[in-house]
Amino acid sequence: MNKFHEVLMEQLSRESSFINDNDELKKFVIIDAAYNINPKLIELLIEVDEIKNKFFTEIKGHWVFNINLFVQYMENKNFLKDSYTRYKNKIGLNIDGKFLNQRNEVSLVWPFKDCVLEGGQTKEDQKRPEIFFNELLAQEEIDQLFEPKVLTNWKRYTTNGEEKVTKLKTDKKGVIKENLIVKGNNLLALHSLLIQFKSKIQTIYIDPPYNTGNDSFGYNDNFNHSTWLTFMKNRLSIARNLLTESGSIYISIDQNELGYLQVLMDEIFGLQNRAGLITVKRGSVTGHKSINPGVVNVSENILLYCKNKNFWKPNRIFLKRNRNIRYNNFILNRHKDTEQWSFCTLLSAFSKHIGIDKNKLKKTLGNEFENKIYEFVKSNPASVIQIAYPDINKVSKEVKEKILESKKNQDKIFHIARQNEPDFFLINGQRLLFYSDRLMEIDGETVTGEPMSDIWLDVLPNDLHNEGGIKLKKGKKPEKLVKRILEIEKKENLIFLDFHIGSGTSIAVAHKMGIQYIGIEQLDYGKNDSTIRMQNVIGKKIKKDGEWLDSIDCDRSGISKAVNWQGGGNFIYCELKKYNETFIEQIEVAKDSKELLNIWEGMKEHSFINYNVDIKKQDEQIEEFKELTLKQQKEILLQILNKNQLYVNLSSVDDEDFKVSAEDKKLTKEFYKIEEEQKSTQMKTGL
Ligand SMILES: C[S@@+](CC[C@H](N)C(=O)[O-])C[C@H]1O[C@@H](n2cnc3c(N)ncnc32)[C@H](O)[C@@H]1O
Repeated sequence: MNKFHEVLMEQLSRESSFINDNDELKKFVIIDAAYNINPKLIELLIEVDEIKNKFFTEIKGHWVFNINLFVQYMENKNFLKDSYTRYKNKIGLNIDGKFLNQRNEVSLVWPFKDCVLEGGQTKEDQKRPEIFFNELLAQEEIDQLFEPKVLTNWKRYTTNGEEKVTKLKTDKKGVIKENLIVKGNNLLALHSLLIQFKSKIQTIYIDPPYNTGNDSFGYNDNFNHSTWLTFMKNRLSIARNLLTESGSIYISIDQNELGYLQVLMDEIFGLQNRAGLITVKRGSVTGHKSINPGVVNVSENILLYCKNKNFWKPNRIFLKRNRNIRYNNFILNRHKDTEQWSFCTLLSAFSKHIGIDKNKLKKTLGNEFENKIYEFVKSNPASVIQIAYPDINKVSKEVKEKILESKKNQDKIFHIARQNEPDFFLINGQRLLFYSDRLMEIDGETVTGEPMSDIWLDVLPNDLHNEGGIKLKKGKKPEKLVKRILEIEKKENLIFLDFHIGSGTSIAVAHKMGIQYIGIEQLDYGKNDSTIRMQNVIGKKIKKDGEWLDSIDCDRSGISKAVNWQGGGNFIYCELKKYNETFIEQIEVAKDSKELLNIWEGMKEHSFINYNVDIKKQDEQIEEFKELTLKQQKEILLQILNKNQLYVNLSSVDDEDFKVSAEDKKLTKEFYKIEEEQKSTQMKTGL
């Protein structure tokens, strides 16, 4: 520990509320004190010159506290061996006697069996049972795996169809302002995004494989669980680095891994940055579910964490609800001065308005009663009221006094005007609440709103499988669910990321809401690919009688109506340029030994083989190889391939062997800001 730390620690320990029974500093109490400019903390810090000079700046004779610097310092230092830190280290998920954060492994997963493929593999039983594509690499085996990758096959999609990409749009600071779909393994794609997007992503949503036994991890339970956790840990850690300080991440998950994922997230993002656990209704108690004994599962969850809760600024969201029947009184003469107001019940006012006797209303109007009375309420929202006792402990002193006064003055109406809050109207000690404060515009409709809770029962549509015009049998999420997440987070210049896009639900929603997005997916779903969905979203211009019409023929499903989606916009598609990955994909789909032997011939010529493999020996023993089962042969070929070379590394972009086209070179360099950096180094060095 250096001297400065020692002095600081000693100084902080002088305040008894900053230390626990073991004389250890309570890191989060101190951080909280800093955010609240706690006088005791400031006094301690300012007392010692060395500390004062580090965390305070002198401006015109005043010392100004640099909270961020102090908090950063406290958060970054591991020397604070408080009980929280020790506990946190202890609760680390334990696999085979080792905590997850001690296991420096990387899980590379080829999720060919995540979801039933509509293009090619159409039936569930076409999934091969052998799942050996969960490969764990030890840290020592990794040298170039995480290097940024060359990007290829660039295409821009607009209402005119597919176009060549010639340039990437950027903002003044050089940050890419394009919607992107990147095809490739998400772990490597995330690492590749770091150069451009480190600390720039505001919101992440992912819907990873749930590890239910039906997805790509369904191999053997022990192996499966630890592989899944390692898989998630690798990706979530890097995703955290992409988030801005005020950013947040939402993860869909079900009860299989919920508990484990939460502990993992506590480790990566910090318990103090837990921001919600949302329960989503994903089905109904129907069919075979309804005859099962026990508790019928119809829900799943969304875990919400932010990078730093102190900086996270979510929006306040209201959801549509039925008419609030507690508002059952009516002011007959709202236009008059407050003192002259007279009241009746809502039912009486409605009865008079519609010309039907109060006692016959429900019978006469039948099913139409609710619609008609709601219309009446919406047309007179300032007159429809609820009269309720206010919580006397939650009001200001001035309001409290008025409440007491109003209790004493029978039927007199008191009006208290307030700034930035609804006025207070009181009668007989009770408050008048107006329906006009409950009405709002939601999805283009004037409705009654209520603040959103963490139970989402209403996001599942009837026609989920039709949304976006493409199919994904398992795991397709409703557009409404993602819309809700993006509404919580929406702000100017937001960049949204999903690295498990599947059928592209989340990016379709972001596109329709005008939010910049990046989507990553490894699989090509053919006619059900996310790129097809996104082309449906953007739509096509329509020609009629030789003339182009103004309107666009675009996707009208999902949230289109709610956001008045009319088509337009564009996105860029690109891929991590494959190297060994090409062979992995060939091995995966090979049907027999003969095919595998052909692949081996190709591998000898064009792949990067592990250093320890002797090609000659493999050839000499080829007869023995043929004796193995197809699964074993596949495993051997996969093991021979060097995993650091799955895709072409950026450092090889100019290497002739990889035949990177001039166009890919230009765009890859633009993406990684290579030219710019070279130019700025040239400027700095004067060369
Ligand atoms: C449950 S699906 C997501 C579905 C999506 N929310 C939707 O509405 O369509 C999970 C997706 O993650 C993808 N995936 C799994 N592992 C991956 C990896 N290592 N790299 C890239 N994509 C991966 C799968 O291919 C699958 O499409």
